[in-house]
Amino acid sequence: MVAVDIQTPAPHIDEETLIQQEEAAVERIKKAREILGDEVIVLGHHYQRDEVVQFADFQGDSYQLSVEGAKVKAKYIVFAGVHFMAESAVVLGRPDQVVILPNMQAGCSMADMANLEQVLTAWAELEEVLGDDPEQHIMPVTYMNSAANLKGFVGEHGGTVCTSSNANGALNWSFAQREKVFFFPDQHLGRNTGKKMGIPLEQMVLWNPFKPYGGLTDDQIRNAKIILWQGHCSVHQQFRPEHVDLWRNHHPDINVMVHPECMMQVVDKADFVGSTSFIVNKIKNAEPGSKWAVGTEVHLVNRVKNANPDRFVTLLSPFACLCSTMYRISPLDLANVLENLVEGRVINQIFVPEDVQRNAKLALDRMLSIPK
Ligand code: 13P
Ligand code: SF4
Repeated sequence: MVAVDIQTPAPHIDEETLIQQEEAAVERIKKAREILGDEVIVLGHHYQRDEVVQFADFQGDSYQLSVEGAKVKAKYIVFAGVHFMAESAVVLGRPDQVVILPNMQAGCSMADMANLEQVLTAWAELEEVLGDDPEQHIMPVTYMNSAANLKGFVGEHGGTVCTSSNANGALNWSFAQREKVFFFPDQHLGRNTGKKMGIPLEQMVLWNPFKPYGGLTDDQIRNAKIILWQGHCSVHQQFRPEHVDLWRNHHPDINVMVHPECMMQVVDKADFVGSTSFIVNKIKNAEPGSKWAVGTEVHLVNRVKNANPDRFVTLLSPFACLCSTMYRISPLDLANVLENLVEGRVINQIFVPEDVQRNAKLALDRMLSIPK
């Protein structure tokens, strides 16, 4: 097969035609999948829209998708998720496997908030302040939502990747070896996890990548337990503490459940905090008649609501909190990559340079071996 790295052309069509085309795409996907059989597996993240995720052979949170990705036998992995997830599937997969992202614009704005150059600068500045090799003192931990070369950096320096479902385990593992953690790119997941472990707020300092030494004094760096990168998720930052108060005022018996990418002030007010799969399962196993206000992406919340009609499920925020990059993948994109495979063409293949793969695999394998 020839690897051709092209993107789906943006369709300039009216809404009605687009709906018709998306409906027709469902049939095109079914037909292509029938022809391709076991050669292809589709992995889907919970935030994908129903029209796409209905074709996933496996649906899960980013941790489960890594575990599943590492076990896949099929030659072609079509990843209905975002870029960093597809990169991780490349790293964890076999060299002869091909990972395809149906739309190359499906990225993650949080992952884009940290790049290798900035992290290398930060590491050198930490070295300067702490006086010798930062590896003596600091464990680098990157959230799964980061580029493969950051996972490579972490792997090379003895650190690990974590997800929203195992951040606690990753921090415990880190503190068993080194006195400080450098956590990127999500300040909220880092802070929420550190707080739950009893680390005082003043020992969790914020590193601003646009300022020399992160905008911190030498003393702040020396006294810190966790150095948090100043990054966030633009979807989860829309959930506010006042939304929790509003729901509780109207429904005193409501359960508030949020993703740990929400800010600390929201997490502190919530009854439950967990990964996307934790949220799905918690409501699935809840009592009929129970009430849930959920702080995470709207497609997941709507799907959980539809799947559990005897429970009251609502988005925590009055605004539609949509991950616009996940939304980039449409049924048309899925049909397009699958039909190209039928024709013997690979489009939208995700590549990770070999040296990056080697180090990123160290970090991802560590993540998979650390107890949650
Ligand atoms: P999960 O790891 O909980 O699936 O979250 C991924 C994500 O991108 C949340 O914004
Ligand atoms: Fe990235 Fe936020 Fe979208 Fe998750 S919800 S993929 S963190 S932008």
